[in-house]
Amino acid sequence: MAIKNIIFATCLLLLSALASCTKNTNQIYIVEFGGYETQTQLHDENVHLSYLLSVKESEEEAKGSFVYSYKHSMKGFAALLSKEEAKKMSEMEGVVSVHKSKGRMYSLQTTRSWQFVGLEGPLNPNWGDYQESSSLQKINNGQDLLSRAKYGQHIIVGMIDNGVWPESKSFSDEGMGPVPQKWKGICQNGTAFNSSHCNRKIIGARYYLQGYESQFGPLNEEEDYKSARDKDGHGTHTASIVAGRAVPSASAIGGFARGTAVGGAPMARIAIYKACWPIKGKSKDQGNVCTNVDILKAMDDAIGDGVDVLSISIGYKAPIPYKEDVIGKAALHAIRKNIVVACSAGNSGPLPQSLSNIAPWIITVGASTVDRSFVAPIKLQDGTIIQGRSITPVHMANSFYPLVLAREVELPGLPAKDSGFCLDNSLDPNKAKGKIVVCMRGEGERLKKGLEVERAGGVGFILGNNEILGNDVPCDPHFIPATAVSYQNVLKLIHYINSSSNPMAYILPGTTVLNTKPAPSVASFSSRGPNAIDPNILKPDIIAPGVDILAAWSAEDGPTRMTYQDKRVVKYNIFSGTSMSCPHVSAAAILLKAMHPTWTSAAIRSALITTAGTIDNTGNPLTDETGNPATPFAIGAGHFNPVKAADPGLVYDASYMDYLVYTCSFGETQYFRATYNCPNSSSLPEPTDLNYPSIQIHRLNGTKNIKRTVTNVGKSTSVYMFSAKSPEEFSITATPNILEFNHVGQKISFNITVTAKMGQIPNNYYGPARYYFGWYAWTHQNHVVRSQVAVSFT
Ligand SMILES: *[C@@H]1O[C@H](CO)[C@@H](O)[C@H](O)[C@H]1NC(C)=O
Ligand SMILES: *[C@@H]1O[C@H](CO)[C@@H](O)[C@H](O)[C@H]1NC(C)=O
Ligand SMILES: *[C@@H]1O[C@H](CO)[C@@H](O)[C@H](O)[C@H]1NC(C)=O
Ligand SMILES: *[C@@H]1O[C@H](CO)[C@@H](O)[C@H](O)[C@H]1NC(C)=O
Ligand SMILES: *[C@@H]1O[C@H](CO)[C@@H](O)[C@H](O)[C@H]1NC(C)=O
Ligand SMILES: *[C@@H]1O[C@H](CO)[C@@H](O)[C@H](O)[C@H]1NC(C)=O
Repeated sequence: MAIKNIIFATCLLLLSALASCTKNTNQIYIVEFGGYETQTQLHDENVHLSYLLSVKESEEEAKGSFVYSYKHSMKGFAALLSKEEAKKMSEMEGVVSVHKSKGRMYSLQTTRSWQFVGLEGPLNPNWGDYQESSSLQKINNGQDLLSRAKYGQHIIVGMIDNGVWPESKSFSDEGMGPVPQKWKGICQNGTAFNSSHCNRKIIGARYYLQGYESQFGPLNEEEDYKSARDKDGHGTHTASIVAGRAVPSASAIGGFARGTAVGGAPMARIAIYKACWPIKGKSKDQGNVCTNVDILKAMDDAIGDGVDVLSISIGYKAPIPYKEDVIGKAALHAIRKNIVVACSAGNSGPLPQSLSNIAPWIITVGASTVDRSFVAPIKLQDGTIIQGRSITPVHMANSFYPLVLAREVELPGLPAKDSGFCLDNSLDPNKAKGKIVVCMRGEGERLKKGLEVERAGGVGFILGNNEILGNDVPCDPHFIPATAVSYQNVLKLIHYINSSSNPMAYILPGTTVLNTKPAPSVASFSSRGPNAIDPNILKPDIIAPGVDILAAWSAEDGPTRMTYQDKRVVKYNIFSGTSMSCPHVSAAAILLKAMHPTWTSAAIRSALITTAGTIDNTGNPLTDETGNPATPFAIGAGHFNPVKAADPGLVYDASYMDYLVYTCSFGETQYFRATYNCPNSSSLPEPTDLNYPSIQIHRLNGTKNIKRTVTNVGKSTSVYMFSAKSPEEFSITATPNILEFNHVGQKISFNITVTAKMGQIPNNYYGPARYYFGWYAWTHQNHVVRSQVAVSFT
């Protein structure tokens, strides 16, 4: 795996520098204190240093090993300790845990999915993402919602990401009122960044480098700024998706997706917490890393600074158990302050059980397509038109060129397993010159294939999906005329080449096409359930636009983030990933929070979940990359609908304490030991009784009763009727099945009974359980409060 290789390479570097190597025998530990609720102990840096001093030889050493104090996400600190020192520390009074920070490398969730499923070598991001995307226009068509929410102007969103390009027009503060008084954050000085870069739009900015530098050594300042400034583009992109101002006539390279670029909550305030950095010596497209101590400190500060919503487009490539999940843990402390936390679901789909950020107090967001495409067809000399997609800004001269498969123009001796992919130095210039080359996906990076065709003198290239990738055609800004085609279309090309004595083709310039169908559909890279960590919680919660999204970009980075090859610079860029879908939902949360200041974070999540859409623009159920209907393990409740979420009728509420009790019920009795002592197990509710707006039952045997409570946030007098749809394997009933409300804020509890109908349904005990899906809803007039139900059997 690429990540392992990177860590290994780092060790080699450290070994060659003996001095730093000895120093690095210490590891970063996170020391956590008890008594969070009572606040009996003073927890400032001095207290933490005194703890350190008691295990270190000198004050200098104690200071030198100190990394961070944590105050708001937990009480504790991070420091470099030896094993013995850690042990000593764990025995000290007040200390409840000393964990080695495993140096788990989180990364920003742009589409590096193929790397993780081993399909596309060391990855390349997909570009593509957000912005004026038609989806946001739809939110914005909810003018009523926007104006009632005052465009989010009193709400502060914390972006845990890799910084911001503050000069982007998307972050202009023109016409914005003063910074909300509750704001306690700072604008941290650093390279090319000082207080003058903050304004009434970007109201705070900080960066977190200690964890990174303890692990990787000093930041290479050619690769990134030692400040909150974003050299890469990702953080700028996500921040502008959430809260970018309206910028007319923005477009990506080549003029694609031209339109008004605007975030979902254009007057909301942005606070930047930069915790992710480039992997040393690697091109940015090879990813960046965020260490858990840096993420924790960033979230800690954000909670203390007074953000209302946290948007975290960061994840790990695989599920993380609760006790090791720093994002989840810090998020629970954020919930305590009633901060809404939205996270990306991850880009490891379509593999099952690939979700990250699965905690029930987080909104877990998958990615979907929008109804816009970038079309660059291929015209064959026989007149046939073959559909392709591209945002390549360079175009072919208007004439036909010889069309060949890569395997026909390769250098002799290329191993068969590497054939057809246009890997580096695989093509023979004598054979490829002047031709359009068809290169297959499945190995190697997409953009580098184009560079290889260019190196070999090709005039254009066609990127072909393999069978697994099917219809999921990426849109890239290549360096030579190019387009990308589905597997079906690869077969057509092969047939044409094979059946023609002189195959010739022409790649038409790409154009932006709106109102494409079907849309939305699930992006193939979007991580899937079932939840591998917690079988009681159905995840993801929801999907939102994450494919080919136009948004602001760092003015120092090319659209592909290929640091060394791409010298183009763009102010707006198209990018894809659950990184881009998460900030859409963060924006929706801002608007809901502005409209309903008393709602809890659970109520906001519930409103989004129970009103999500499950039908696409052809009137059919949402589909996934196969073209078949998508299950809740791909879409959760469905596609977010902020306008409906503003008026959900009923919400499933849950408090901070409910979540603490939940961790006990789930069996993570030590998870919040510092915060909360779990009650005796006999008095704990069942984990399935957490008041979540969806239901998942793992290995149902016979019948299960599930308790839920809804709160009326709609009309004072209303009568909700129960309805349900279930597959033949189980039934769903409710007692009572009519809910009569006579005031707003009223809570009514009910039982949902799920009964297996087919006797024993064979299941595989050793692999992932097979799930079946249904739903139930409470309906009153135009309010439909819908919950997905996923069930597996013994
Ligand atoms: C940043 O630097 C300026 C000038 O050196 C100083 O006045 C200011 O206090 C610094 N701000 C912070 C947050 O450190
Ligand atoms: C901040 O940086 C800008 C430009 O980089 C510079 O003009 C300004 O003097 C700096 N302000 C402070 C307070 O250092
Ligand atoms: C090309 O055509 C020949 C004969 O028409 C056939 O045997 C061969 O399988 C075809 N190859 C491909 C890749 O379609
Ligand atoms: C929990 O159970 C133990 C023994 O089973 C008992 O001694 C203790 O008092 C109980 N605690 C609470 C809070 O009920
Ligand atoms: C299912 O429930 C029945 C009856 O209560 C019990 O006999 C059986 O062992 C249970 N099966 C499993 C797999 O738990
Ligand atoms: C739900 O079921 C429990 C027992 O399983 C029962 O005690 C409770 O009264 C039921 N609640 C409602 C509202 O029917």
